[in-house]
Amino acid sequence: MPPLLDATTSGHFQLEALKGRTAFFESSNTETWGFNQPFLGPTLRVATGQSTKADVRNSLDEPITVHWHGLLVPGDVDGGPHQRIAPGGVWSPELPISQPAATVWYHSHAHGATARQVQMGLAGVMQVADGQDDARGLPSNYGIDDLTLVLQDRRFTRRGTIDLSLSMPDRMMGFLGDTILVNGQIGTTAVVPKGLVRLRLLNGSNARIYDLALSDGRPMHLVATDGGYLDRPIELSALRIAPGERYEILVDFSNGSGVELTSGQNPNMMMGGMMGGGNSRGGRFSVLPFTPDSSIPAQIKNLPTDLGGSRPTGDANQASVRRLSLDMPMGMGMMRGGSGRQFSISGSSFAMDRINFGVTQGDVERWTVSANMMMHPFHIHGVTFQILSENGRAPQLQNTGWKDTVLVNGSVDLLARFDQPAPADAPYMYHCHILEHEDGGMMGQFTVG
Ligand code: C2O
Ligand code: CU
Ligand code: CU
Repeated sequence: MPPLLDATTSGHFQLEALKGRTAFFESSNTETWGFNQPFLGPTLRVATGQSTKADVRNSLDEPITVHWHGLLVPGDVDGGPHQRIAPGGVWSPELPISQPAATVWYHSHAHGATARQVQMGLAGVMQVADGQDDARGLPSNYGIDDLTLVLQDRRFTRRGTIDLSLSMPDRMMGFLGDTILVNGQIGTTAVVPKGLVRLRLLNGSNARIYDLALSDGRPMHLVATDGGYLDRPIELSALRIAPGERYEILVDFSNGSGVELTSGQNPNMMMGGMMGGGNSRGGRFSVLPFTPDSSIPAQIKNLPTDLGGSRPTGDANQASVRRLSLDMPMGMGMMRGGSGRQFSISGSSFAMDRINFGVTQGDVERWTVSANMMMHPFHIHGVTFQILSENGRAPQLQNTGWKDTVLVNGSVDLLARFDQPAPADAPYMYHCHILEHEDGGMMGQFTVG
């Protein structure tokens, strides 16, 4: 597990972006970046209903930003591309956190450099906690029965360095690695109690989509989506998780037998980037094996029935409609390899000095988002939203909770209420969370005032 940095009592935490070295394999000594440690960052736990002060120091030699993905905070402390932290600089935002308990995350968002900085390690998980998990009957022992799992893929050069080069398909489809990392580690195993275990899953990959399942077909009980808890658990046999998304599931290990969390191949790209050599198991590969250990006390044996959360049921009739299309480069731009700013949203490629639109604080809008040529995980800053429909049909079960990122496979209608302010010098972003697309211009910005 990443170390837990609990800021619920102090209301204060410090992060330092720094360079380090990581031994991913025996004899490797790879340059990596992290927060407070060589690679990735600690799990930050913050309390909802109180203001938390962050101090973020940049000890790297290039500018970064630190965005709190999933925190509902005003634009001027959101950590988007406009809140640059210069090398040697410190950024000290005050975060007025007031939202349902949820698993969110933080990562760099420096425009044009996000994909590379996240690959190097500038990402971590954040828990918004309300102290009620024991009352809910949910596993809550960090690293014991409450596991934080950051799923990422990487490639390594023959010298063992993180391979940041982009092939032609990577430029178009987003980076796909050939090695899976869970919490920054290759080939690790989770040892768990013989009871119910909670997995807080984050897809922190640049572009890979995981089609998760358990190798013996046992169910996954979905308890929370991006924006927090559901009303009650939903039983699933498969879970698709796209870049930027978080899902929390409960898995029952009480029968004592081990199981593997596995994934199918990236559904966005059937032609390359195969994991595990496209082996006999229908192309499925192992993400993480679990080994139950009866010497670890099992705290939670029964599936909770009432999680105290909610599934959104907004009224879309009064909402104004906005249409957005996630556009891939076409024609000559595509032939030249997709370099430069050729990805766009509704024909407009991201520009730091162009605000795409403004919404009125308190307004409810219905956004119809359509994807071109492939699936795109679409994310909006500063809100959680309801999925009204996917391709005109009721949302799939895993999308019935509160979301801030949704995989658009065709078209998605969502409903959002813009409660947080974002002025013109600190606007909110909306973008594809395939980081190569985001850096390439598939992003826009809006104000809330
Ligand atoms: Cu996770 Cu705008 O990002
Ligand atoms: Cu975000
Ligand atoms: Cu995209």
